[in-house]
Amino acid sequence: MSSRIVAPPLLTPITLRGVTCRNRIVISPMQQYAATRDGRPTDWHFLHLAKLAIGGAGLIFTEALGISPEARLTWGDVGIWDDASIAPLARLAAAMAEYGAVPGVQLNHAGRKASVLRPWHGFDPLTADDAAARDEAPWQTLSASAQPANPGWPTPLAITRDGIKRTLEDFAAATRRARQAGFQAMNIHGAHGYLIHSFLSPLSNLRDDAYGGTRENRMRYALEVADAVRSEWPADLPFFYRLSCVDDADGGWTLDDTVALAHEFEAHGVDVVDCSSGGLGRRTTTAIVARVPGYQVPYAARVRRDTGLKTMAVGLIREPVHANSIVAEERADFVAIGREALFNPHWPAQAAIALGGPAQYDSWPAAYGWWLKARSRTLEASMLPELLGS
Ligand SMILES: Cc1cc2nc3c(=O)[nH]c(=O)nc-3n(C[C@H](O)[C@H](O)[C@H](O)COP(=O)(O)O)c2cc1C
Repeated sequence: MSSRIVAPPLLTPITLRGVTCRNRIVISPMQQYAATRDGRPTDWHFLHLAKLAIGGAGLIFTEALGISPEARLTWGDVGIWDDASIAPLARLAAAMAEYGAVPGVQLNHAGRKASVLRPWHGFDPLTADDAAARDEAPWQTLSASAQPANPGWPTPLAITRDGIKRTLEDFAAATRRARQAGFQAMNIHGAHGYLIHSFLSPLSNLRDDAYGGTRENRMRYALEVADAVRSEWPADLPFFYRLSCVDDADGGWTLDDTVALAHEFEAHGVDVVDCSSGGLGRRTTTAIVARVPGYQVPYAARVRRDTGLKTMAVGLIREPVHANSIVAEERADFVAIGREALFNPHWPAQAAIALGGPAQYDSWPAAYGWWLKARSRTLEASMLPELLGS
C-alpha cells in the first residue's frame, strides 16, 4: 500500500510565469481608507499586510491603489501616481515577501464612483459640507458616459479620447512604479462599477464612438488597459484581472460577455480572471445573486471551463473544506478571502491545520509554529482515550 500523502489541493503550491505561491489562498484586495491625505500608506497598512503574510496566505493583494489623485474613491485611499510613492509601497511589498507571501498589487481608477465618503461616514458622494468639516472637498468624476452611478449622485464627465489616453498612460506609469516597488503579482480592478467596468456595461456606456455600442467596442478600453499594464509589467510576473462577471441589473453585462472578454485576455497578457460581480450602481449584487458561501464560484468555474484561463473565486468563503473543494473540483485555481481574513488573519495557516493536520504547523513561522505544534501534542496526550475513539 502506498504511504504517499497527497497534499490537499488548497495547500498545493502553484507557479504562474516566474512566480510561485506557496498555496492557493489569496487575500482579496481590501481598501483600508487609512492613507495620508497625499495618498501614502501608513503603519496601519504595513501592520495589516505583514500580519496577513504571517497568517500564511500564498498571495496578498494590496488595496486598490489610485493611479491618479482623481482615481481614488476617498481621501483615505492609497495612491501610486508619483515616484515618491515607490519607497513607502516597497516597504509593504518587502514585508509581505519577508513572511512568505507573494506581494501583489491592485490598481484602479474609480471613475464615476470616485469622490465619496469613507464607508463608515456613509459612502455617499462628498459635498461642500465635507470640505468644511474635514477639508475633504469633492472632485469632478469621469466615466464612460455622463451618467451618474446612482440617482441623485453627481453627473460624471464622459471621458474624452484624450482623457482615455491619459488614463492609459497613468495605468502604465503606475505599473512601472509597482514593479519598482517590488510587487510580484498585478491585479487590475475592472469590476464594481469603476472606470473600466463603466465601459464594459451597456447600462453605463452610452458612447457612440469606437469605445461604445457593440460588445467588442465596449471591451476595447479594458483591453487597452491590459496592454498598457503589460507594456510595463515584466513577462515573468503574473497578471490578474478582476471583473464583475455579471451586472446587478437587467440588461447589463452578463456571464457570456465575461467569457467573451476572457477569451481575449490571453492575447493581452492576462493570466488569471478574478471573478467578482455587481457594483455598477448600488454596492452589491444581492438583488440577483443570493449571498451564500461561495456565491461567485460558478462564475469562476464557467470562465475556467470555457476559456482554459486560470480563475480566482471570491465571496463569503469561510470553511477550509469548502475552499479546498473549490480547487479540488477545478472550479478555480485560487480562492480569495476578504472579510474572513479581517476576522481571522491566520485563516490560511489554520486552514492548513484543518486540512493537513498538526504537521502543517511546520509551515507557520517557527516563533509560533514550534509552540503550537508542541501544544497540539500535549493536548493529544491529555485527551481521554475514549475521546480519541480508541
Ligand atoms: C474592507 C473591504 C475593502 C475592499 N476593498 C476592495 C478593493 O480595494 N478592491 C477590490 O477589488 N475589492 C475590494 N473589496 C471586495 C473584496 O476584495 C471581496 O471581493 C469581497 O469582500 C467579497 O469577499 P469576502 O466575502 O471574502 O469578504 C473590499 C472588501 C472589503 C470588506
